[in-house]
Amino acid sequence: MDKNSKRYTVTTALPYANGPVHIGHLAGVYVPADIYVRYLRSIGFDVLFIGGSDEHGVPITIKARKENTTPQAIVDRYHSIIKQSFQELGISFDIYSRTSSPMHHKTSSEFFTKLYNEGKFIEKTSEQYYDESAQQFLADRYITGTCPHCNYEKAYGDQCESCGTSLNATDLINPISTLSGNPPVKRSTKHWFLPLDQYETWLKQWILEDHKEWKPNVYGQCKSWLDQGLQPRAVTRDLDWGVKVPLSDAEGKVLYVWFDAPIGYISISKEWAEQTGKDWKPYWKDADTKLVHFIGKDNIVFHCIIFPTMLKTEGSYILPENVPANEFLNLEGDKISTSRNWAVWLHEYLVDFPEKQDVLRYTLCANAPETKDNDFTWKDFQARNNNELLAVFGNLVNRTVVLTHKYFEGKVPAQNALNEIDTSVLKELAAFPEKIAKSIENYRFREALNEMMNVARLGNKYLTDCEPWKVFKTDPERVKTVLNISLQICANLAIVCEPFIPFTAKKLNHILNTSSKKWNEAGSANLLEAGHQLNEAELLFVKIEDAEIEQQVNKLLETKKANQMAAVKANPSKELIDFEDFAKLDIRCGTILEAVKVPKAKKLLQLKVDTGIDQRTVISGIAEYFEPEQIIGQQVSIVFNLAPKNLRGVESQGMILMGEDADGKLVFVSPTQKIKEGSEIK
Ligand code: 2FM
Ligand code: ZN
Repeated sequence: MDKNSKRYTVTTALPYANGPVHIGHLAGVYVPADIYVRYLRSIGFDVLFIGGSDEHGVPITIKARKENTTPQAIVDRYHSIIKQSFQELGISFDIYSRTSSPMHHKTSSEFFTKLYNEGKFIEKTSEQYYDESAQQFLADRYITGTCPHCNYEKAYGDQCESCGTSLNATDLINPISTLSGNPPVKRSTKHWFLPLDQYETWLKQWILEDHKEWKPNVYGQCKSWLDQGLQPRAVTRDLDWGVKVPLSDAEGKVLYVWFDAPIGYISISKEWAEQTGKDWKPYWKDADTKLVHFIGKDNIVFHCIIFPTMLKTEGSYILPENVPANEFLNLEGDKISTSRNWAVWLHEYLVDFPEKQDVLRYTLCANAPETKDNDFTWKDFQARNNNELLAVFGNLVNRTVVLTHKYFEGKVPAQNALNEIDTSVLKELAAFPEKIAKSIENYRFREALNEMMNVARLGNKYLTDCEPWKVFKTDPERVKTVLNISLQICANLAIVCEPFIPFTAKKLNHILNTSSKKWNEAGSANLLEAGHQLNEAELLFVKIEDAEIEQQVNKLLETKKANQMAAVKANPSKELIDFEDFAKLDIRCGTILEAVKVPKAKKLLQLKVDTGIDQRTVISGIAEYFEPEQIIGQQVSIVFNLAPKNLRGVESQGMILMGEDADGKLVFVSPTQKIKEGSEIK
């Protein structure tokens, strides 16, 4: 097979259809995958780009139960939101389908049956929790109880959200079924297991020896799994939502969501084939095809170990060539969380920032968590637009096209003799496509994006150095060359920017009045012929104002506030206060000068405290914990502006702040090193 007919099957993790897609998903998976695919297509490779919704699994059933509806209604709702928002962002799937489709049920069911018939599974019976009143086995998430590690009383059967430990439901103390509120009983149940341990030697060779080129984060995670040793994994569950286990003695059982979901890549390919009249098999069975899975780091074990083992066991499929997993994107310094609504949701972004798909694509690629977790901030988003896309890319195109209209009626002027600057710029220009391509092919999309912007930087510098607006009066022939070269740079940009910012590429092609060109034409200084008529200049990017950013930041602050309120509700404490309330407190550092017992009050000491401003009397309820002589010279925090109060006939002028140690004994809240009296504590 020659280079230009190379075939690729590129998959993206199928997002769970129990919520919309957010920027973390985009930066981790969909934006890099789309850049990769658009680049491959531009080279002329044959690519099948697969996406779809993962519509099974326990969380979807829990959401449905909470909302008093069916799992199907939940996945219908989110599948359509997700599908539409991907399309609007320009993620160029050949097909975006779903795992509740008949084709998927049939394909995954047949896959299981083949492995079952060939005796590839182990059957095991084990004890699992069962809810007698709900008459069903309980997924770990449906059970809560006390964590055996930290005693948190509302730990889930699969994980304690207080101490973070992974659990088995049977570890919980006093387990309770969340379906009925009753304690569950143990019942035995049969399941089918994929004996991963039997594939360990093969996996070690295939990953650790044959795929040393995988990204270090991916390789490292695989190595750690393999070093720990693999165990057989259950591929079925007792649940009524999912692909039914196609066996007669498996009533009430479905395929485990992580067994059926990756088979979704195959079933969705088959659907695509049906819709287009093409053959799906070469994309999955031809040894020349490169299979690449784009995923987030939480999916590594499934795509690098479990799914390849399933494919290998089945025997007729190719294995992934690479699994370029990314780390996670945070939002304004905090972990993105669907349940805490701490996210920028794609469908909301598209409404709040119409026509600005490329700004998001650009920012997420520039900040992609390729080697470590990264942070998205709205300030950075604004700066990427205003200082890079607009000030560099947009500025080059605008200056070039406006000047061409001003001096040459919008017609591409012919080049005259080239000087040294011209030849060196053209030489640099010619080298870019390969540099960008190399970065993309190695899954270094941030680097590739930066190189793409360097093309625009090159053009800007060239224009600034040559100053055609000054030279025109004295040497219009020179200006012809300068604008011709600048326009060639713009035409090159239209090609190399397309994978990253396709909406801009389209607009740029319109301004240049050209049709889109393929990657192998990039690098040329003859993309636009002399005399070619340009269209009018139009702005590629518009400034994003502070007010727009503040609005988004405020939206997040509202979310934070709502989460705090919810936390206060869940853990009753005092009511939430605003910063203004807090700022009313004047807390100072002081030193205890004198201390005596208050007669007939066994809890109270009368103190004289040097506040740096005055020496005042404070009555404090600490007598049970301290002898008066023991605390002379002790630095303390004192509420300085507390209204005086008469206690036992003495006016107390302030309050000393105390905390409790693990035994409930009071301790002073005081600075860790001596500071001057009167210094404000804020
Ligand atoms: O982590 C997730 O969101 C999963 N739904 C990804 C599944 S990827 C594939 F296997 F389908
Ligand atoms: Zn715990």
